[in-house]
Amino acid sequence: MCIYGRTHSSGKVSPDQLLFLSKPFSRMSHNSVNQTSSPAPKFYDAIILGASGFTGKYVVREALKFLNAPNSPLKSLALAGRSPGRLAEALKWAVGADSPRNIPLLTADTTDPDSLSRLAAQTKVILNCVGPFRLYGQAVVSACVDAGCDYIDISGEPEFMERMEALYHEKAVEKGSLVISACGFDSVPAEMGLLFHSRQWAGPSAPNRVEAYLSLESDKKIVGNFGTYESAVLGVANADKLVEFRRSRPKRARPAIPGPAPPKGSLIEHHQQLGLWALKLPSADSVVVRRTLATLTENPHGLPGVNETADDLKKREAFWSSVKPAHFGVKLGSKSLLGLFPYIMLGIFIGLLCRIALGRRLLLKYPSFFSLGGFRKEGPSEEEVASATFKMWFVGHGFSDASLASKGNKKPDTEVVTRVAGPEIGYLATPIILIQCALVVLSKRGSLPKGGVFTPGIVFGPTDLQERLQENGISFDFISKNALSA
Ligand SMILES: NC(=O)c1ccc[n+]([C@@H]2O[C@H](COP(=O)([O-])OP(=O)(O)OC[C@H]3O[C@@H](n4cnc5c(N)ncnc54)[C@H](OP(=O)(O)O)[C@@H]3O)[C@@H](O)[C@H]2O)c1
Repeated sequence: MCIYGRTHSSGKVSPDQLLFLSKPFSRMSHNSVNQTSSPAPKFYDAIILGASGFTGKYVVREALKFLNAPNSPLKSLALAGRSPGRLAEALKWAVGADSPRNIPLLTADTTDPDSLSRLAAQTKVILNCVGPFRLYGQAVVSACVDAGCDYIDISGEPEFMERMEALYHEKAVEKGSLVISACGFDSVPAEMGLLFHSRQWAGPSAPNRVEAYLSLESDKKIVGNFGTYESAVLGVANADKLVEFRRSRPKRARPAIPGPAPPKGSLIEHHQQLGLWALKLPSADSVVVRRTLATLTENPHGLPGVNETADDLKKREAFWSSVKPAHFGVKLGSKSLLGLFPYIMLGIFIGLLCRIALGRRLLLKYPSFFSLGGFRKEGPSEEEVASATFKMWFVGHGFSDASLASKGNKKPDTEVVTRVAGPEIGYLATPIILIQCALVVLSKRGSLPKGGVFTPGIVFGPTDLQERLQENGISFDFISKNALSA
């Protein structure tokens, strides 16, 4: 059964057949089959912006699992984007064989600030899936901050995140708008994984450095969509601007970490215990984690909730007192050296070509060629997505007694290994994470900061996000603790 009513012979839906709200609180007056006799909700719990995108449609599918489910704080949801037709197609795909869902479709374009203000006025939180964020994200953050609406996104772009913090943090605090980027695979597994890892160092023991080894596994090809590739190319192309921007910013506090700073290490290593060849990965994760640790150093008990209970406060303080900061890095692992080859080639191509206009044009025109099939304009097939999984191993080296580290240049004597694992990173894990972050925002708003631009770790660390992720297929496991030979 088609929930969208009459379709054209092309199978596409015309905009006038949709439940379509272009003004806040306006009622639908179309003769769409999605029409309902009850009035359109005046206030949505959440709006997914960019729902028609490759990732967006998977986010919609994940959100529908929780919409009006027992005990779910998600009671009303709308989808937003430029094209009602594409939104309707995404909804149709997300609903699949299930019963039709009556979800309002709203028009919004990041080049039209009024359309974004209307969205922000109608909802508690916007889930932004419109990227590259360096091109489209700022207008959405600005509209949310102005309206005092909460904002979360799936950006993995450090420059965007840091600029939003510099531009909007103070106003977001004042307006009561919580702005949290990187609520996808970038960078929640790294953030929550490091917090989980650091809490395994009990008593006087403490980590010095933690290396995360990311291993992507599948019996099919592992493929990403063009949106992620484009974001990465533009990020590298603008790397100099980020360096310049960081120089212009005040220095953040650094956590006290027992022992000396770890050596830089080689670009490629073989980790015998994990059976992985590993390559340094210049992902957003380590930068986001560093920002979380800086905020924690500045606020050793974490961030007070806007309306937190005595219990929330106790829980928050207990949580942060058990977190032990460490130097952190991420590596991409593969069972064979050959498995790293496509990533090395992609790094070389992007590094060489992205700084000149013609090179960038070529990179963006032929993603599949330059990534050796790792990224496609049309994205991965559903089978490719379903067959992929990830494991992120956190290997921590530290001291059985942190006080010994300050007495001379002592070498770490203890190793702790933990692991975060889950389904395919871009289109399964990312939607799970984004939706669970949204559910925490909706259900625990009083225990979260009034407003401000923050990283996910510092906001969600003491909440039930980890338990929620575990209930939804992303595991956190303690693997081992060993004494290291001198
Ligand atoms: N954190 C993670 O691990 C993770 C995982 C997956 C993706 N991502 C990021 O998510 C972003 C999207 O990736 P994707 O592969 O889903 O890209 P995509 O398929 O190209 O989707 C982009 C979406 O943005 C919308 N859009 C583009 N310009 C717009 C504008 N001016 N106003 C309103 N909407 C606009 C598009 O709408 P139309 O349908 O109208 O074109 C589409 O819905 C990328 O930055 C990617 O890096 C991050």
